Amino acid sequence: MRGERAEVWRPAVEFLRLYHREQPDAGSLEDRLAEVRAELDDTGTYRHTGEELAFGARVAWRNSNRCIGRLYWRSLQVRDLRHLGDGAGDAAAIAKECAAHLRIATNGGRIRPLISVFAPAAPGRPGPRIHSDQLIRYAGYRDRDGRVTGDPLNTGLTDLALGLGWRPGERTPFDVLPLIVRGAGGAPRLFPLPQDAVLEVPLDHPEQPWSEQWGLRWHAVPAVSDMCLEIGGICYPAAPFNGWYMGTEIGARNLADTDRYDLLPRVAGSLGLDTGTDRSLWKDRALVELNRAVLHSFDRAGVTMADHHTESRRFLQHIAREGQKGRQVGADWSWIVPPMSGAATPVFHRTYDATERTPAFVRHGRTTG
Ligand code: ARG
Repeated sequence: MRGERAEVWRPAVEFLRLYHREQPDAGSLEDRLAEVRAELDDTGTYRHTGEELAFGARVAWRNSNRCIGRLYWRSLQVRDLRHLGDGAGDAAAIAKECAAHLRIATNGGRIRPLISVFAPAAPGRPGPRIHSDQLIRYAGYRDRDGRVTGDPLNTGLTDLALGLGWRPGERTPFDVLPLIVRGAGGAPRLFPLPQDAVLEVPLDHPEQPWSEQWGLRWHAVPAVSDMCLEIGGICYPAAPFNGWYMGTEIGARNLADTDRYDLLPRVAGSLGLDTGTDRSLWKDRALVELNRAVLHSFDRAGVTMADHHTESRRFLQHIAREGQKGRQVGADWSWIVPPMSGAATPVFHRTYDATERTPAFVRHGRTTG
C-alpha cells in the first residue's frame, strides 16, 4: 500500500482491533478489515459505521489526559452529522446544528455531555472548520491604550469577527461572539448564535450583594469546537463537544487569571481585605469567595456544575474502574490537579501515566489568538 493510504491503514487497523475487542458483538473483525482495505484502495479513505463513530468519540474522551471528568465517558451522546460540511456552502447548516447542539446539551440546565460530528477530512478535501475555539465565547474589545473590555483571551477571535463585518451593540464585558465557521474549502463566515441557544447564569455571592452592581455572568455549557476528533486515521476537524463545568474553571481561572477577567482585586476590595501585602492572603481568600459565588449561582439556577472536591474523587473512582477492565488511564498531573486547593484534593497526592492514546481530540493549530 502506498504512503498516504498506509498512513490511514495502520491506525485504522489499530482502531478496529480496539473496537472489536471492546465490543465483541460488533461482528467479524476480519470481514470489516477486508472491507476497509478495499474502500481505502478505491477511494483513499474509508467511512466509519455509526457505531464505530460513537465508540471512537467516547474513547477519544476517555483518552483525554487533561480531563478530570472522564468517569462518565460512556454516557457521551453522539450526533452523526457527517453529511454536513462536504461543500463550501455548508457553513450555514453547520452553524445551525451548532445552535441545536447547544440546546440539546443545555437541556434546561441538566447538562448532557454531547458531541456533534460533521464531515471528515479526506484526501484533497480539508473538511469543514469551526474557527471559534468554543461555541460560546465572550468578546474581548481592545481599546487604544491596550485595555480590554470583556474576555482578553478572545481579542483575536473578536478582531476576526469584526473584520468579517460583525457589528456588536453596546460592547459589554459579556457579549456572546458570533460563531465563525467555514465549509470545506470555503471562506470563514459569521453566524450569530440565537439567544435561546445560549443559557447564561448570573453570578452572585451567597452573602455579599454582588449581582446588581457587578453584572457578572457565565455561560452554562463549555463546548470546545476547535479540536479535531481523530479516529482510526480519519480526522473530523469539526466535532464540537461538551461536558459540564467544574466551578474552578470559571472561578479560579476565567474570572480570576490576571490575563482574563482579573477579578481578584475587586473581590478582595469588596471583602475589605488588605491588598497591600501578599501575606494577608487576599488573593487566596478572594479566590475562595469567588468560587463559592460560582457554585452558589449555578446551583441556584439549576445548572449542572461539578465542584473540584467531588470531581477529584470521581476521577480516582474512574481510574479504579478502568483498572478493573484492564485499562490504564493516562493523565496529565498539571491539568488534573485543580487550580486551587490542589493538595486538599486526592488527585494531588499521586502520579499518573502520561501515555497518549488514540482515538483522541487533537489541536491542529489555532486559527486565532
Ligand atoms: N476550561 C474551559 C472553560 O473554562 C472549558 C474546557 C472544557 N471544560 C469542561 N468542563 N468540559 O471554558
